[in-house]
Amino acid sequence: MSTQAPVTAPPTERKKVTTQTLRRKKERGEVISMLTAYDYPTALAIDQAGIDVILVGDSLGMVVLGYPNTLPVTMEEMLHHCRAVSRGAKSAMLVGDMPFMSYQVSTQEAMRNAGRFLQEAGMDAVKLEGGSERLEAVIAIVSTGIPVMGHIGLTPQSVNQLGGFRPQGRNGAAARRLLEDALRLQDAGCFSLVLESIPSRLATYISQQLEIPSLGIGAGPGCDGQVLVTHDLLGLFDRFTPKFVKKYADLHGEMKRAFADYRTDVESRLFPASEHEVDMPEEEWRRFLEKKENRE
Ligand code: KIV
Repeated sequence: MSTQAPVTAPPTERKKVTTQTLRRKKERGEVISMLTAYDYPTALAIDQAGIDVILVGDSLGMVVLGYPNTLPVTMEEMLHHCRAVSRGAKSAMLVGDMPFMSYQVSTQEAMRNAGRFLQEAGMDAVKLEGGSERLEAVIAIVSTGIPVMGHIGLTPQSVNQLGGFRPQGRNGAAARRLLEDALRLQDAGCFSLVLESIPSRLATYISQQLEIPSLGIGAGPGCDGQVLVTHDLLGLFDRFTPKFVKKYADLHGEMKRAFADYRTDVESRLFPASEHEVDMPEEEWRRFLEKKENRE
């Protein structure tokens, strides 16, 4: 049995996770954990489990709001869910995902929208998708003092350009472009980088070249950290499960079972039972009946 202290302190003793914490973890070779959350109870549980980073991802659009992809998600929807998450999480670093068209039009809009995540929704940092074409936006946001997490590889907001949700960087030229994008995003000031759905050996190579931590999703074990969409991990998203997901629960099945049990109980009058009822003292009931009868 290991006698070493656990990497993550018990939740009650946990200090707030910052960009520095993540940088130090990479330097020490400690793995970073990140999950998505979109509401208060999930954020509370993730935070108490000692996860380093909570991403309020625009995957919200698919797994919570039922959109076919992440493109319809708006700033207002993101901010609404970020506020709920920030009420639940005390120690984890909170990252708000900038939705489609909130940072692409101009650097001014990118700065203003990034600012709203911190000013109005309690986030500590923002994430945006894209490589070299996003350098200006990253530099502008970082210049305002807001930490930026980059995201390359499979970038869901470009699903129409990519021709579907498919792995990226599988030939030499594409792999080279991803490495260059990663290094440029680091130079532009990103504090970390999501690598989504790219070959494991490429993700390992890129991670070794970077000083900032990489967070892999479908990018193998060689990244500095791992991230999953919580609804995938919990088995709460019914439409499909990407190959890179490990399911730790079947909450969709569990919810269906609980709802069906409730329906059976209601229809057979087993619920509510006496322990679920509100009590009223006998004498008060009699007083009520007397008054009622006097009036009649
Ligand atoms: O929106 C999201 O949840 C994400 C993760 C997949 C990294 O971007």
